[in-house]
This record gives sequence, C-alpha cells and structure tokens, in this order.
Amino acid sequence: MEEIYFDNAATSQPSSKVIDKMIDILTKDYGNPSSLHLKGLEAERHIKNTSKIFSSILKVEEDEIIYTSGGTESNNLAIIGTARSYQRRGKHIITSKIEHPSVYQVFNYLEEEGFEVSYIENDSQGYIDLKQLKNEIREDTILVSIIHVNNEIGTIQPISQIGEIIKTVNTNTIFHVDGVQSFGKMPITPKKWKVDLFSISSHKFHGPKGVGALYKNKDVRLRPLLFGGGQQKGLRSGTENVPAIVGLGAAAYEIYNELNENRSHIYRLKNLLWEGISNNIEDVSINGPNIKEGSPHIINILFKDIKGEVLLHALEAKNIFVSTGSACSSNQPHPSDTLKSLGLTNEEIQSSLRFSFSKYNTEDEVKKCIQELVNIIPMLRRFKAGGRHK
Ligand SMILES: Cc1ncc(COP(=O)(O)O)c(C=O)c1O
Repeated sequence: MEEIYFDNAATSQPSSKVIDKMIDILTKDYGNPSSLHLKGLEAERHIKNTSKIFSSILKVEEDEIIYTSGGTESNNLAIIGTARSYQRRGKHIITSKIEHPSVYQVFNYLEEEGFEVSYIENDSQGYIDLKQLKNEIREDTILVSIIHVNNEIGTIQPISQIGEIIKTVNTNTIFHVDGVQSFGKMPITPKKWKVDLFSISSHKFHGPKGVGALYKNKDVRLRPLLFGGGQQKGLRSGTENVPAIVGLGAAAYEIYNELNENRSHIYRLKNLLWEGISNNIEDVSINGPNIKEGSPHIINILFKDIKGEVLLHALEAKNIFVSTGSACSSNQPHPSDTLKSLGLTNEEIQSSLRFSFSKYNTEDEVKKCIQELVNIIPMLRRFKAGGRHK
C-alpha cells in the first residue's frame, strides 16, 4: 500500500541530494575542523560553505550563524544565553502563550531562577495581542521571544511589526524568534525585521535530524550553554557535526532554490484537502487562522464527535500518517495549550487533527485521504453515538 505522509511539521523526508552530500563527507572529508592539517581545513571549508548559504538566504553575515543540535538547542541557547548575559540590566522577559515547549519550558525554568515573565495572550486564530505586548515592554525588559509559524495551527505572527514595536519601546530589548516552522516556507529577513536571534531546525525542511542553526546578530552577547574546546567562537563548544552541517546547508539551499513552486504546490494541497473535507463531511472546522492566512503547510481540523487519536489510527491503517498535535507534545498526554488558548474545550482539542504537507506530497494523495475520511468518519460517529446509548 502506498504511504501517504502528512506529518511534515513533525519531521520531513530527507532529500536525496542532501543524503548524497552527507555520505560524501562521512566517507571522504571526515576531518575535524579544528585540526591544523589539510583534512581539518577541508572540514572547515564545508562549514563555511553552509554559512555562505545561510548568509545569502537570510541576508546576514557568515559569522552570524551558530550551529547547534536542532531547534530545541537553538531556542535554549538564544533564551538562556540572553537572560544570563543581560541579567544585570534587567530580569524581565516576555513570551507568548502559544510557544513550542522548547521555548515555554525554558521560560518556566528561568521563572524558577528568579526572572519575571510576562505572557502575551492571543485571539481565537492564534494571533498574539500586539497592544498587550507594547504595554508589557519596560526599561528592564531584556528579551522578547515569539514563535513565527505556530507548529500546531500554522498561525503566522507579524514578525516585522512585532520587531518594530519592541525596538520603538526599548531599543535594548533583544528579540528572539523561533523560526523552526517558518524557515524554508517563506522568505526570512531577520535584519529587516529587527530580529536579533532566529532559530532554525534542519529536519523540518528535508535535512537531517539533530542539527540546526541560530542566527545571532553580531552585536548581541550570548552566554554559552556548553563549555569546552571553544569551538564556534566559544559560543558552542564541541566538535562540529560536519556531515550534518553540510546536510543542513544543502537542504536550505534546495528549499530556497524552489521556494515559490513549493509554496504554491503545498498551498494548493492544503486548500484541496479543506475543500474536500468541508464539502463532504459535516461538523468540521479549522482551528486557527483563516485558510488563506495560515502557513501553507499546516492545517488543523476539528472533527466534532470524533476521537482524534482513533481517527489517526484508522488513517494509519490505510497508510496515511497525520498528527493529533505537535510531535513533541505526543510525549505529554495533557491537552494542547495552544489549542486551549484558542478557546477550545478539552473534548474539541481531543477531536482535532493536524495535517502538514511537503513538496513530496501530491494531489492524488490528498484525494485519497479525503476519500478515506469520507468513509471512516460517519462510521466512527455512528459507533460513538451507539456507544453513548449503551
Ligand atoms: C516551532 C518549533 N520549535 C522548536 C522545535 C524543536 O526543534 P527540534 O526538533 O529540532 O529540536 C519544533 C519541533 O517540533 C517546532 O515545531
């Protein structure tokens, strides 16, 4: 049975070009970039090449890119690194109520460490309250961290407007953006948007897992999380994962090279899915932004009177893979905080599924998924209604 993978916000299939490049490095250019001999220089050159790719995509300088083990580490380094570095200036930090755990858990940790945290509310489509944000920024606010594209519902925050608000109220406040779900899906210009730190994760755009990047404006001082050999200008000690960094660069190059075609293709798939579902199945609605406004690759749908997990496994039996929420939150059985913040009840949250697309998906796959949903959902609803009367 053909496999249909609609869980690309959790992770994506590595591109064959990326895999080929990585195998090349693993087999031939396996040197340590810190070594003074030729093998070391070769390895260093490969890292530099990835930095060149990021410099050109993000319109930043090559040495403003730090390599990490992924989105989680980039977020931790950006937030904890800023908090520790600037705490003498102030201990007030701000984030939103719809962040990924790799941001909100870090804020919880810093709160325990004595930092004061303000949490920005959001509306029923997931957009943060910009008026509240403006009012919360103070003289002692050292950091604001906001997610760019929400991983569960696809809301795109107006990052440029947020950057403008932050810097107008306090030019010294550092602005960090979790861009894990937006990089590779749209043009990203941190300097233009007044963003100081921007987190990226390779496995979300057909690169390898366990590698990511953090854009850091050269004027921002970060206290490192890892100490040791002083690699990456002391900001992230540890021998660089050269094959992974090369894979990350190759994936970034490939995705931005074909950005416009991919965007319209993925957007078409999302529309097609919603059209098919909303025209053929009763009692369904979108959680989050209007279909035209959200990120092209994510759609979160509420199927009333259906247990999302049961539907997920019914689709799995047909080789169709979707998600009940973010991949990371499948470790946490409690209902999603993001969906809760939209005003959904626990039952509605449990009746919601996320479909997320990539360039490898096709219209035929979407049509097949719609057909399966049209078959399965009335059956599940009948079963549930029958169960209730027993
Ligand atoms: C918005 C967002 N931030 C951060 C992460 C964490 O990235 P990684 O899996 O590379 O640690 C994810 C992954 O699901 C994400 O969706």
